[in-house]
Amino acid sequence: METKYWQIDGAADLDQNPAIREAAALLREGHLVAFPTETVYGLGADATDPEAVASIYRAKGRPSDNPLIVHLADEQGLSEWVREIPESGGLLARRFWPGPLTLILPHRGNLAPQVTAGLPTVGVRVPSHPVALALLKNCGLPVAAPSANRSGKPSPTRAGHVWTDLGGRIDAILDGGVTGVGVESTVVDVTVNPPVLLRPGGVTLEMLREVVGEVRVDPGLREEGESPRSPGMKYRHYAPGGEMWVITGEGEAQVSRIQRMADEAMQSGKKTGILCTEEHASRYRADWIVVCGTRSRPDTIARELYGALRRFDEVGAQWIAAEGFPPRGVLHSVMNRLSKAAEGRVIDSGRD
Ligand code: TXA
Ligand code: MG
Repeated sequence: METKYWQIDGAADLDQNPAIREAAALLREGHLVAFPTETVYGLGADATDPEAVASIYRAKGRPSDNPLIVHLADEQGLSEWVREIPESGGLLARRFWPGPLTLILPHRGNLAPQVTAGLPTVGVRVPSHPVALALLKNCGLPVAAPSANRSGKPSPTRAGHVWTDLGGRIDAILDGGVTGVGVESTVVDVTVNPPVLLRPGGVTLEMLREVVGEVRVDPGLREEGESPRSPGMKYRHYAPGGEMWVITGEGEAQVSRIQRMADEAMQSGKKTGILCTEEHASRYRADWIVVCGTRSRPDTIARELYGALRRFDEVGAQWIAAEGFPPRGVLHSVMNRLSKAAEGRVIDSGRD
């Protein structure tokens, strides 16, 4: 399949942009279009078209029991697809939409069944990226869109990542540059009281609690052995080709523990990578040092995370140590993604 590739530059009059209009027409005809959102790139299809939705799963190689998020142009369209909006859901939508928040709500049964993987609920969000909004307005459809990566790869934060994973397998890519947040949206189940955080993301737990008071955290996010309520969280997500470790802890203890482990890996002949923030980059020796953001701006760590992880696979690192962080604010979602990538191999350098 030939994949069309359109670069969208500038924010001027996106509603009239010819590429966006053509992409919207493709969606209406049941085709697959990748587009930028403020979190990561999404792979979109008409959420009311069973064939189109089925082709998302095929293109990604995604297990079919993992439901998709439906993207809407605005909150007004919600009641067409959702049966009821609980009070907490209304409050969160008003505060964070358009933006990186997905609400789990009871659906009306008029979306393609593959979108919800047979569940009585659907995940919905209104993204804030201007290209995503222009596309959604132009096509006039609810658009089902998972992250636009091959299943098992990190979510794409640049159009080039989408091209690498899905070029030749989808109909079009809209290139809107680097995404802003860098990790996926926060997923919150508002069908229960108090609401439950199912996936940490661009909107932090602290921000949610400011709006609705109590928010529980899905036990599956915290404890090994519990089965998570968000189906997507149970899958082995991205894991790099090499063996990965995450090392938490304060300054010197963290740096020296990581270096000690990396020295051992190199001595045993492994091609070794270290993932660290700018502050510590000059302190390490390894085959590859990949810098990911700065501690003075935690949002930069989230933004650069997936691109940095992709680097290790590009170079073929066989062993990787990543700096870990106290899981507060947006670093909660960074630590969630890091520990998944490391398949739970997280070490506290403060303990031996
Ligand atoms: O930021 C994002 O959310 C991106 C952009 C493209 O919008 N999309 C994204 O989609 O990350 P995906 O498919 O990679 O992740 C969707 C997550 C999965 O963990 C899935 O299990 C969960 O949302 N989810 C979807 N519908 C659900 C439902 N009805 N109940 C519980 N979890 C649900
Ligand atoms: Mg995904």
